[in-house]
Amino acid sequence: MGFSYPGFTYRNDRLHVEGLALEDIAARHGTPCYVYSREAIESAYREYERALAGRPALIAYSVKANSNLAVLNVMSRLGAGFDIVSGGELSRVLAAGGDPRKVVFSGVGKTEDEIAAALEAGILSINLESPEELERVDGVAGRLGKVAPIAFRVNPDVDARTHPYISTGLKKNKFGVAYADAERLYRDAAHRPHVRTVGVGCHIGSQLTGAGPFVAAAERMLALVQRLDKAGIALEHIDLGGGVGIRYKDETLEPVAAFLDGALGMLAGRKETLIVDPGRSLVGNAGVLLCRVEYVKHGEAKNFLVVDAAMNDLIRPALYNAWHEILPARKDSGPGAVYDVVGPVCETGDFLGHERRLAASAGDLLAVMSAGAYAMTMSSNYNSRPRAPEVLVDGSEMHLVRERETVAELFAKERVLL
Ligand code: LLP
Repeated sequence: MGFSYPGFTYRNDRLHVEGLALEDIAARHGTPCYVYSREAIESAYREYERALAGRPALIAYSVKANSNLAVLNVMSRLGAGFDIVSGGELSRVLAAGGDPRKVVFSGVGKTEDEIAAALEAGILSINLESPEELERVDGVAGRLGKVAPIAFRVNPDVDARTHPYISTGLKKNKFGVAYADAERLYRDAAHRPHVRTVGVGCHIGSQLTGAGPFVAAAERMLALVQRLDKAGIALEHIDLGGGVGIRYKDETLEPVAAFLDGALGMLAGRKETLIVDPGRSLVGNAGVLLCRVEYVKHGEAKNFLVVDAAMNDLIRPALYNAWHEILPARKDSGPGAVYDVVGPVCETGDFLGHERRLAASAGDLLAVMSAGAYAMTMSSNYNSRPRAPEVLVDGSEMHLVRERETVAELFAKERVLL
């Protein structure tokens, strides 16, 4: 199995991101630290672009995966649109120079303020998830004297066959409107003065490894679009969501083109814009979490590498039992030993990897791979740990794109009683 992290390679036994050794980045910015490769992001984006060439399409990057302004700006320059789920994400997109006309807004709990901000910004589509939300958006738009562009996020009831926490397209999930109700909702929307129906959307889940469920969802959506067409409700776009998986360990994955192939075949000849909103597959393997071994601890039953990154920096192992590769920044010879790689947080669930063979000593640097998506964006300050900085590497340049938080910042908004 080859080394499958575009943008990351060993050169002279040192792990490099593009033209820079991770050791040099740690020397400059300290650890823990997230490091991203611009080249890796761009090449992942181009893969989508190639797969979608030849038909009207929009790649709406899912901001929740990695919302650093520099990352959003790279996406924006590539021509990407954005899939957002909050007013906060909208503000980030605008601050990063993203085009609001390419923004789709999903999420089950949009507030009136968030809806108003989206309408003021002039986004492409508000993806509604309930009849109550249709009511609310119609009302907010009316008060602002606007017409809201809307789509319904329809739950296609397809099993994504992924981790239950990131599976979203089943009847029992909270997302979207029921497939059986969709047509009625579109008819209802058609009579409302302050909404304009522009599309339909779905998203069945994340970290899909095969195209099967994605194609099944596309088929259901297309059948709906055809019925709407017959009823005189024409749409401008079909949003099939994100969900394309990445290789964390030894998963065999279908390439992006294979994921999209089925849907592209079905949509051939149709005029609607195909929207996809990938997150993980654009940035996941473009980033690492760089950390340093503080202690090698020999426990009674296990050996531990206690590192300076923790579950607050990368919660995926604790939350989903996710597996992330852990590689030494400097290749070590020797057999090493089997370790649990753990952080300093006071939780047994605070681990980055279980039972990894590594030849590491205190002071060594480790790279937790596949940390470009859902790492920093899911981080917290638990145990009063300041958030780690983010560095975006571009060729042989390192750019600090978010400074390390200070402890003073963590409690700057707190007050003691007088
Ligand atoms: N579109 C919608 C409407 C979504 O809800 C999501 C992700 C995406 C697109 C992007 O999915 P992606 O291409 O990244 O799979 N924290 C979890 C993942 C949660 C995904 C939630 N929705 C994790 O770390 O695995």
